[in-house]
This record gives sequence, C-alpha cells and structure tokens, in this order.
Amino acid sequence: MKEKALSSLCTPALVVDVDKVKRNARMMIERCQNLGVQLRPHMKTHKTLECADIMTGGSRRCIAVSTLAEACFYADHGFDDIIYAYSLPLDKVERCADLSERLDLFQILLDHPHALDELKKRPLRDGRLWHVWLKLDCGNGRAGVLHSQPEAFSLAQAIVGTKGVELTGVYAHCGNSYNCRGVEQIQAVAQETTDLTLQFMEKLKASGITCKSSIGSTPSCSHPVKDMGKLSEVHPGNYGFYDVQQSVIGSCTLEEVAVKVLTRVIGHCPHRNQLLIDCGWCGLSLDGAGKLPLDML
Ligand SMILES: Cc1ncc(COP(=O)(O)O)c(C=O)c1O
Repeated sequence: MKEKALSSLCTPALVVDVDKVKRNARMMIERCQNLGVQLRPHMKTHKTLECADIMTGGSRRCIAVSTLAEACFYADHGFDDIIYAYSLPLDKVERCADLSERLDLFQILLDHPHALDELKKRPLRDGRLWHVWLKLDCGNGRAGVLHSQPEAFSLAQAIVGTKGVELTGVYAHCGNSYNCRGVEQIQAVAQETTDLTLQFMEKLKASGITCKSSIGSTPSCSHPVKDMGKLSEVHPGNYGFYDVQQSVIGSCTLEEVAVKVLTRVIGHCPHRNQLLIDCGWCGLSLDGAGKLPLDML
C-alpha cells in the first residue's frame, strides 16, 4: 500500500503485506513439493478467504482449522477436505456430524476412548464414515496420547475396530519447536517428531494398520528435515504472516514478517522521554505482549 493510503487508515490497524504473504506461501509450497509431502495449511492465524486462497494455491482443498466457527466459515465458502485439528470436545459431536454429512471430507482429531464412544452413539447418515486422525503427543506436551504409552496403540486399534469410523491418519503437532533458538534446534525437534511418528506408523503397519501421517508447525516446516518426506502431510499455518516471535526463534527473518500493527503518535511526554501511541495492549494481540518471554520483547 502506498504511504498516502497507509496514513489515511484509522489506527490501530493490522497492515498485511500481501506480496510477502504470497512469497511466504510460495516458499512453503515449494518446500513441500521438494520433500514430496502434501501441504495442509492451517487457517487459525489469519482466518480469511484471501489468505486461504493464497495458501491453498486457489484449490480451496486440504486445510486445517482450530474451531468449528472456522470450519463452517470455510465450508460455507466452498472449501472442502477440512481437518478440525483440535481434541474433539464432546459437546461438538453433533456439529461435527453435520459437517461430515455435508462435505466430501470433514476430518476430526481424537485422543481419548471417550470421544470414540461418542462417535459410536452418532453414526453418520448415508453410509458415511467418521474420518478420524489419532492425535499423538511426540513431545509437544499439550493434547494427544503420548507416543510411548500403550494407550496410543490400543486407541488406534479401537478406532480401526469401530464400525462407521475410519482411522484416516496419525497427527502430531510439534509446538515444542517454539522453545527452540535457531535452525539447528528447530530441526532437532522436527527430526524427533518425525522419527517418533514414523516409528508409531511402523508399529501400526506391523499389525496390519495403514493410514496417513502428519506432523508440523511453522518453525519445523520452514526448516524441514529430509525424513519429513516419508510422511503423508504437514500442517503449518502461521508462516503466511510469520511474526516477531518466529523471527526470534529462527523460523524466519524479520524481512519475511508480512504483518504490522499501524499506529500513530497521540502524545509527547518529554518529561518522561516517552511518546504515547494510539495502540493499546489488545491492539498488539488478544493476549497482549505479556505472554512473550522478556528476551523477545
Ligand atoms: C493442532 C495444530 N496444528 C497445526 C498448527 C499450526 O502450527 P503453526 O501455528 O506453528 O503454524 C497448530 C498451531 O497451534 C496446532 O495447534
């Protein structure tokens, strides 16, 4: 946007450099093509049709979302092959059933037998199957069954053995890559998550179970390791915009960050050597800047 147009904006305003978004998206598409792995971009960062079109190359297929509001928004606009990449909340089974019956391919994540029990109680119409990805924790320490626990394997078997349900894949998110500093550490996390996921896939295969596999995060997919080519998919999302945190951990350069918060100076306090700007805590992030470690500020 030209300087004149920028200065006419009401502040605070989120300013997106679309050329940078297009470049970031193109780089990710190329990295995945070189690896031979399917890219499934996550929509949670931008939640827009414009960026979704850029990240899917206009196909409007193969995306991940973090809420059902996002899922419905994209479904309403002709997107399909959507993963609701969030441990299934039991109160949302009916809405997921609705999307599964409406779209060609709506997929959910599951990491507990209780959720499987709920799916059994709600068979899909017209002979459709629930498409389920088993959420595996490979060191992220958030959602998912721990890869080393026998429960992970027995849950996979239970999914396979459940009528009306298909084990579509194994999904491991390596959010622990956000604790890294530098490419070497990021690639160590990418390698470990890949290895643990592939070992789990081998275990499944040995008992006659085959399905897809997906790992990812923006840091790991910005600096992928070769073995990630043995997976079916990766699912980064933040890379469309990137941000300062990503540049601090070594995921991208500051020049690649495609968003800025535009503000204006609304006060000058020489006695405190400070300027007052038209941008409060929430203008920077819903979480404020307080969640970032001090060395990132
Ligand atoms: C389950 C899941 N998948 C994919 C992503 C996308 O990862 P990133 O934000 O690092 O691009 C996230 C982000 O938090 C996530 O929680």
